[in-house]
Amino acid sequence: MHLSSAVYPSLANRVVFITGGGSGIGAAMTQAFARQRAKVAFVDIAEEASRRLVDEVHGASGVPPLFLPCDVRDVAMLAASIASVRERLGPIGILINNAASDDRHRLEELTPQQWDERMALNLRPAFFASQAVMAHMRELGGGSIINLGSICWRIGAANLTAYATAKAAMHGLTRSLARELGAHGIRVNTLSPGCVMTERQLQLWVSPAQEKIIQATQYVKGRILPEHIAHCALFLAADDSAMLTAQEMIVDGGWA
Ligand SMILES: NC(=O)c1ccc[n+]([C@@H]2O[C@H](COP(=O)([O-])OP(=O)(O)OC[C@H]3O[C@@H](n4cnc5c(N)ncnc54)[C@H](O)[C@@H]3O)[C@@H](O)[C@H]2O)c1
Repeated sequence: MHLSSAVYPSLANRVVFITGGGSGIGAAMTQAFARQRAKVAFVDIAEEASRRLVDEVHGASGVPPLFLPCDVRDVAMLAASIASVRERLGPIGILINNAASDDRHRLEELTPQQWDERMALNLRPAFFASQAVMAHMRELGGGSIINLGSICWRIGAANLTAYATAKAAMHGLTRSLARELGAHGIRVNTLSPGCVMTERQLQLWVSPAQEKIIQATQYVKGRILPEHIAHCALFLAADDSAMLTAQEMIVDGGWA
């Protein structure tokens, strides 16, 4: 489904780098930025889905997004991917720290190794990707970094302690980076989705009974789609939000 959206002239030809851009909300962002004629690059571990998306976007926009297979838990590989994008497309002006996993765990069973792994996926790459693109954005005279948060820690979701901790920390990261990078015209914001009906969510977690609860809780009724989140990312990335930084934009239909 494609919702109609605004066109942001400032996004045309801007280089955007999306982590986890191959499926779910990240894929909607890859598509949405491509429709704005931005130069889109994304990393993902899901190679098959990512290659399918490249073909789809190529067919729709005439320009294939640049896909680089990369596990964001590997900081050196992430930095190398960012360097490769710079070489092939130019300096990155928009960074979207989106890759994450909300796999559930029982409180009693989480091991220190699993805790570290959750942070290595859900928090650490956002810092190191930001560190790697700082020089690009300074060179461009500014940029926009968007960190994906979540309402899960605000609403007290269960069986997600490590993920929720990482997601709460994403907003701390946003505010710290925004303070330090603001002087270079680099804006940093958190984009926090509510219950977004991605394929994965529907397959793994959202039963018809749970969807009823979600609908009863949201102020605005109806499914939140990946496109709803992607369209807010366009605004946060574009010059239209030029003085908006260090904020959290919550897109949950009214809940948190
Ligand atoms: N879907 C929701 O309801 C929801 C709610 C709150 C927050 N969020 C946040 O939105 C963002 C996107 O979520 P989503 O629902 O689209 O998730 P998703 O699992 O559908 O997609 C995540 C993408 O990241 C990729 N990925 C996972 N591990 C990776 C790794 N190690 N290296 C590289 N890529 C990796 C996956 O292959 C996938 O393409 C996440 O930050 C998530 O925490 C989602």
